[in-house]
Formats: sequence, structure tokens, C-alpha cells
Amino acid sequence: MSDRVYIFDTTLRDGEQSPGCSMTVHEKLGMARKLVELGVDILEAGFPIASDGDFEAVDAVSREYPWAQVAALARSCTGDVERAAQALRHAKRPRIHTFIATSDIHLKYKLKKSRQQVLDEAVAAVELARQHVDDVEFSAEDGARTDPDYLEQISKAVVAAGARTVNIPDTVGYSVPEEYGALIGRIARALGDCAIVSVHCHDDLGLAVANSVAAVRAGARQIECTINGIGERAGNCSLEEVVMIFKTRHDQLPYHTSIHTEHLYSASQLLSSIITFGPQPNKAIVGRNAFAHEAGIHQDGYLKEKSTYEIIDPRSVGVPEGRLVLGKHSGRHALKQRCQDLGYELTREELDDLYHRFTTLADRKKGLMDEEIIALIHEGQKVQQVAAD
Ligand code: KIV
Ligand code: ZN
Repeated sequence: MSDRVYIFDTTLRDGEQSPGCSMTVHEKLGMARKLVELGVDILEAGFPIASDGDFEAVDAVSREYPWAQVAALARSCTGDVERAAQALRHAKRPRIHTFIATSDIHLKYKLKKSRQQVLDEAVAAVELARQHVDDVEFSAEDGARTDPDYLEQISKAVVAAGARTVNIPDTVGYSVPEEYGALIGRIARALGDCAIVSVHCHDDLGLAVANSVAAVRAGARQIECTINGIGERAGNCSLEEVVMIFKTRHDQLPYHTSIHTEHLYSASQLLSSIITFGPQPNKAIVGRNAFAHEAGIHQDGYLKEKSTYEIIDPRSVGVPEGRLVLGKHSGRHALKQRCQDLGYELTREELDDLYHRFTTLADRKKGLMDEEIIALIHEGQKVQQVAAD
């Protein structure tokens, strides 16, 4: 089995449909450019039946980036599939992504349909989609909570109908890694070389990335994910995290993706500037503090040898440089180094005085910016000047 894992980005669809994340067509186009530069394999640009804006976005992305593999979402029914096909008509590599819920809980309360009805509708939707495009993906919504025997049956049926990719979402973020890996392994074995197994994990229990990694170990070769992990409720699997796990721990996880990781930080920043919120400061890979070392012992070790406390070179994800946040736990060594970096060579006495004033201020604040440190240095120099006069 190949070690190549396809990255299916759904920032513009699952991500965009969550609160505070809506984007105009123009904004989606700007984000799509960044995603293409990042090297995502498939770009899901919208759900064309859902709104005219989504239809336009899929159409606009297909025209603007004709060489990109663009996907459009459609429920497993004629109107949705036809609308998706229409929105994709200018795409050179279109994918119709059709889905229907398969868990008993969704069948009973939401769809009010039998398993046979759902299977028939899934097959019919895939067959219709195949009349428009070669590349069809089928998603068994709430797949992680679906009876495995039925999931296997419907997966084989949609592949026989022409689906190339079968996605087993953990729609409600309920699964745990071993359980999800076992389910994915079973479907991957059942489909063999006939289709790619995809995963789409939500983060309700904070396990979306761990579940996606477990699924790849078990045979999945496509991960559906978003920049900054945005998406319904607690979000989707975070693209930057899952990609950097494979890159950083290749010894344990010998898989590779097409992502140009040096664009990860700028992709995160661009998304944050478009939607209404950014990643939390301590978010892995792209958070403000992801490469910041504050504790004195950490800074001391880091300054002696970066690998003591840094497992990823910040430049490899496009962060300009590893930033030291100087706070109340920082030591004299770190302060001296920062002064040198800022172009100030201080005498021992000057450093003593600066360190005293620095710790007093840092005690009240969460961390000192370069400008504040420079101001403290100048303040000390002024006091000495007055004393000398
Ligand atoms: O979470 C989910 O099940 C989805 C499907 C439409 C793929 O977003
Ligand atoms: Zn989803």
C-alpha cells in the first residue's frame, strides 16, 4: 500500500459553514489561492444546493484554478447532484462528493428511512454523479456510529456504482482512536484497491487529529481537514497538526503528504484575517505561543541548543523566527541575549539594573514585547546620563 496520504481541504465548506466563519466568494477565492499554494490535493469549495453564494464559490474556484481538483458537496438526491455538477462545469478535475447518513439513529430520527432505502439512494446518487464526472466520493454520514456490517455493505455498493473514494466520517466526534482505526481497517480491507478510504473527523472530544492518524495507520489514505481546525461545533481535524505529525514523526508514521509546510503559518494567518477569530494562542503549530519559550530553564536550554525544547524548526512552517516571550520566569541569560539580538551590548552593572526593573514590570504583565524592553534599556541609560550630569 502506498504511503501517500491525500489532503482533502474542507476549510471553504465544513469550515465555512460554522459560526463566525462565513466567507464571501471573493474571500473564498483568496483563501483558495493560498490552499493551492499550500499544495492541498482536493479543495472542497462549497455545497452548491445550499445557497447561491456556495454555487458561485464552487464555480469561481473552478474557473480561477482550473488545474486544481475541486470538490462540491451534494446530498444523495438528484437536485443536489445536478446542482453540484453544474457548479463544477468549468473544473478540469471535478469531484462530486455525495453523502447520506447511515447510522440507525440518523435513519430513525432524521431521515425516517430504512437501511435498504438509504443504500438505494446512495447507489443512485453515485451513478448519477458518474454520468457527470469520473471522480465521485461517497460519504456515509455518522459512519463512526453506523453498524459495521451495514457500513461495509453500503461501501461496497457505492464502489460498485462507481465511487472512487469512500469517506467514513466521525460526524459527531464520538470515536476514540483504537475503535475508529479498527472500523477503518475493516472497510479498507473490504474495499482493497477498488477505492481510497477517507476519514473526516470532528473534534468534539478533542480527538479529531488522533483519530485521523489512527485511521491512516489502519489503511485510510485521504484525510479531510481544515486550516486552524475550523468546522462544525468543535471543528474538524486540523490540517497543520496532522501534516506536521507525519513530517515530524516520520520514524513512527512513515506517510507523506503533498503539503508545502512553509506556507502553513501564512495560511493560518490569512484565514484568521478573513473570519472572525484566530487560533487560540497555545494552538499547536500556528498559535502565537507555539514556538515561544518563557520559563527561564527552557530559555536557557533553548539558547544553548534549540533541540532541547523545540521539536519543529519554526521556519519549516513559515513562522519568521522562534520568538522568545520574555516574562517573569525568564532569566538574566535570556534577557542579555535578547538585548544583544536587539543591538544593545550592556555592561554587567547595566544588565543588573535592567534585570531588576524588568522583573518588576514582568511580574505585572503577561510577557514583554521587544519595544518594551528597548524602552526599559533607554530609561536606564537616561537615569545614568542624569546621574553623570
Ligand atoms: O461531518 C460530516 O459527516 C460531513 C459530511 C458531509 C462529510 O461533513
Ligand atoms: Zn463534517
